[in-house]
Amino acid sequence: MAHHWSLDPDITFLNHGSFGATPTAVLDEQSRIRAQMESDPVRFFERDAVELMAKSVGSISEFLNADRDGMTFCHNATGGINTVLRSLELNAGDEIIVPDHAYQACWNAVEFVAQRAGAKVVVVDLPFRCESEDEIIEPLLTAISPRTVLAMIDTVTSPTGMRMPFERLVAEFQARGVDVLLDAAHGPGIVPLDLDKLDVAWITGNCHKWLCSPKGAAFLHIREDKRESTKPLTISHGFNAEMSAVEKFRFEYDWQGTSDPSAIFSIPKSIETLESMVSGGFEAIMERNNNLARAGRDVLCESLGTDAPHPDSMVTAMATIDLPGTYDGPPDFRGDPLHNGLLDDWGIQVPVFPWPHHEMRYFRISSYLYNSLAEYEYLAQALSESM
Ligand SMILES: Cc1ncc(COP(=O)(O)O)c(C=O)c1O
Repeated sequence: MAHHWSLDPDITFLNHGSFGATPTAVLDEQSRIRAQMESDPVRFFERDAVELMAKSVGSISEFLNADRDGMTFCHNATGGINTVLRSLELNAGDEIIVPDHAYQACWNAVEFVAQRAGAKVVVVDLPFRCESEDEIIEPLLTAISPRTVLAMIDTVTSPTGMRMPFERLVAEFQARGVDVLLDAAHGPGIVPLDLDKLDVAWITGNCHKWLCSPKGAAFLHIREDKRESTKPLTISHGFNAEMSAVEKFRFEYDWQGTSDPSAIFSIPKSIETLESMVSGGFEAIMERNNNLARAGRDVLCESLGTDAPHPDSMVTAMATIDLPGTYDGPPDFRGDPLHNGLLDDWGIQVPVFPWPHHEMRYFRISSYLYNSLAEYEYLAQALSESM
């Protein structure tokens, strides 16, 4: 199905997970929206944008089975996480639980708000290799104290590609009076999500990853009881508007100053486009991608002489495999030498990162509709000749 994307045919692209990749039909829709905007920017923002926003809210709310009155957008999951954290009124001594598999940028945001308030970040060490969900759930719940006010939990972890048992974690934390902020950066289109059922306080997730929307499209859903206190990162005209709570929420979130909303307005088209590619829609897409990631992981593990680190039930369309040896240095922003060699000498785009928290180095594969098993076999060959 690669012909639906404009990916470089000379590159074996095994990193959908970092920034997604957008089909040309969706990029064309984004260009159409931009042309509409530039044909009369005032009419666009005064009238067209209101309609397009309602369409995007409706489309993502239906996709996630969510209350549309709590659905809003941001340009990325980092922004969604910051929106929630920076709205919290923390007291000195409050505790926030963060697993050590968390995405560092979001973890940093937790550190920032905690330091400002004199609150404490309780980092929970989780294993990389594990055999069951209980090995993840148990240490996280054990970390709860009478001062715990929040847990930031991932749907799928970034450094370790682990599908978290987030449904159980949300239920367990919230039953103990601890709010959950769900980091679903890898959420829509990679794991089934039913927001009505989850009933989580806050969830933010990217549409530009596994829904293949253009870059700069993410959602933030806020449960009704948190809506009044959770303010957008940018305070704008809506703040002093006198209107109903529902209208005010829309105004405050939908207008945070002038920006290009074309990525967000292309979300309905991306869902429609992907669903038209595979009969069975996203359920079938997820199954296909997940099966391919597991098959690719197995090929690579066998070639490297190692075992899969997680059971299949904890693997989605991304799989992480640890590399031999240890590593405790900082990440090198010029790229890991193995990553650079795979790209320059073999034309393979695959992330290789150090993970200092566990003194490890690993690589992470992704699978999307444009990938095939032969590409992971090629990576296995490249790795065996490069290491
Ligand atoms: C778990 C997790 N959270 C947050 C992010 C940040 O996403 P973005 O760069 O779109 O803000 C990522 C990105 O890969 C991620 O994997």
